[in-house]
Amino acid sequence: MTTLLNKTAVVTGAGSGIGRALAIELAKQGCQLAISDINVSGLQATKQGILDIAPKAVVHIYELDVANRASMLDYATLVHAELGDIHLVINNAGVALSSGLDDTKREDFEWLMNINFWGVVNGTEAFLPFLKQAQGGGHVVNISSVFGMIAIPRQSSYNAAKFAVRGYTEALRQEMCLNHNNIEVSCVHPGGIATEIVQNARISDGEDRAELSQSFDKLAHTTPEKAAKIIVAGIKKNKPRIMVGWDAHVIHVLVRLLGIRYISLTQWLTKRLNYQ
Ligand SMILES: NC(=O)c1ccc[n+]([C@@H]2O[C@H](COP(=O)([O-])OP(=O)(O)OC[C@H]3O[C@@H](n4cnc5c(N)ncnc54)[C@H](O)[C@@H]3O)[C@@H](O)[C@H]2O)c1
Repeated sequence: MTTLLNKTAVVTGAGSGIGRALAIELAKQGCQLAISDINVSGLQATKQGILDIAPKAVVHIYELDVANRASMLDYATLVHAELGDIHLVINNAGVALSSGLDDTKREDFEWLMNINFWGVVNGTEAFLPFLKQAQGGGHVVNISSVFGMIAIPRQSSYNAAKFAVRGYTEALRQEMCLNHNNIEVSCVHPGGIATEIVQNARISDGEDRAELSQSFDKLAHTTPEKAAKIIVAGIKKNKPRIMVGWDAHVIHVLVRLLGIRYISLTQWLTKRLNYQ
């Protein structure tokens, strides 16, 4: 898919952050959009942001919880009925949980997996049949993270979900190449992106959200707008892996060079930064 002009794109979690920036970037590229989120006021702000720069853009907004499989299946049918051929699906909605294993509540772990992993599977399964029918083929984009390449302490549930998204997406890409040449698949691995993810996160009882936000802000070097441009460029090149931000590239290279020995490095950094 070298051009996105006149294509129909679906973006989940588009009420904030990377999802919002992606929706705006895709509208600039000439896509008509189906954007969804659990946060309807966020979605309305995204729609307004699009109309401010592209007054003629077609933007449909839907309240949708990606963790709800039945709602996702209905949503895919509805988008197809309202907008016709669907060419691009970006499973972006996600949440964070900062908690050591000893303190992690099973309920919080399942909440995160249901959104960050099952939400991606729900979106892929619901839209694939429509992508396969679309004139000119389709593209599935699943948002993982650099934490789908390396694991760090206090992020076991997030790591589990993002590694799972990577495995699922890389298998999907191969299956689509073997059986459905007109479906492209990309997995996205952002580094630190300056979004609301920490404000929206669940944290364990002993943690201080303001402190976590401060540390995150120091590490989140890439704007959502820049991230969206990188992701859209990667989609047009049909990249299997889209690394977002210099930190993501550094981590990608380190993992290739060090293999499993990266664990000693992250342990050392954790002690140094007193993040345990
Ligand atoms: N910000 C980063 O540094 C970073 C790094 C790597 C990966 N990511 C990933 O990027 C994606 C977007 O995150 P972001 O940083 O823009 O965060 P964000 O919190 O700014 O935006 C996430 C959006 O997802 C929505 N959402 C949450 N639960 C939902 C649900 N059940 N159903 C539908 N929508 C839901 C939220 O309402 C919000 O609008 C996530 O998958 C996240 O894991 C972010």
